[in-house]
Amino acid sequence: MNAEGVAWVTGASRGLGRALALALAGRGFRVRAGMRNPADGEDLSDLAAQSGGQLSVEALDVRRPESLQAPEGLRVLVNNAGLDGAYLPVEHAPMTLWRELFETNLFGLLEVTRRAVPQLRATGGGVICNITSCSTLQEVPFYAAYRASKAAVGALGESLRAEVAGFGIRVLEVMPGPIDTQMLSASDRLPEAAEHDGYQEMAKDLWRGRQGVADLITAPDAAAARIVSAILDDDAPARVACDPLGENLLAASTAR
Ligand SMILES: NC(=O)c1ccc[n+]([C@@H]2O[C@H](COP(=O)([O-])OP(=O)(O)OC[C@H]3O[C@@H](n4cnc5c(N)ncnc54)[C@H](OP(=O)(O)O)[C@@H]3O)[C@@H](O)[C@H]2O)c1
Repeated sequence: MNAEGVAWVTGASRGLGRALALALAGRGFRVRAGMRNPADGEDLSDLAAQSGGQLSVEALDVRRPESLQAPEGLRVLVNNAGLDGAYLPVEHAPMTLWRELFETNLFGLLEVTRRAVPQLRATGGGVICNITSCSTLQEVPFYAAYRASKAAVGALGESLRAEVAGFGIRVLEVMPGPIDTQMLSASDRLPEAAEHDGYQEMAKDLWRGRQGVADLITAPDAAAARIVSAILDDDAPARVACDPLGENLLAASTAR
């Protein structure tokens, strides 16, 4: 697709979403950068303008439907907003944790997407890019709620892909590995599972294993550049990686 029209990015206050908003503006899209607190993005318009791009910041909370206004002229939606939570075994994870993650990662994304589809249809098509996680391709203890919410987005995307292909809308799933953001640095801790009988050693092993991917941590700008390339590539596969670890896991899963 040509880099023209409006791109709408959720969760653009920091991390991958911020990098994606700037990268899309740099390629020629008019970007609407959605974030809960617009003050977090007060430098974004100027930064985009420095590379000749257009970007406006808007208040957006995927859990507040009244804040979701799909723009006219929409060509690209990037469903990036997301969160994770306590790393607990299934038997101890409270339902409030599951509901919290699903409200944002799945239902919030769905609220945005169902508003975006009519605008994408009106523009003659475009791309819906869902940021999930390559953790769904592995058995990772204590990440059940997060991984399940992201796997559900994957399944939602597969049905949506079939439904909207005829309208010229491509649904792309991006499965990041470790990207150098606040979410990743906050996850560098002994999992809360260690407080529960029978899970201490597994929790310690998981934390130790996490140190093993330190060399594979990817900068948000580098990941964003790969994601924007996949958005622009009409022949991109339905599921793509944006970093070396995600690439290895995706290749291994498709080879199975
Ligand atoms: N970093 C990684 O290693 C990694 C790996 C796999 C997948 N991912 C996925 O990549 C995406 C971006 O994550 P990140 O690493 O950039 O994390 P991050 O630094 O924690 O940023 C998350 C973003 O989501 C926003 N957000 C959270 N709840 C929201 C809501 N209700 N409405 C609107 N925005 C909301 C946050 O906004 P506030 O500033 O308002 O909190 C923030 O802008 C997420 O979907 C994450 O699951 C990340």
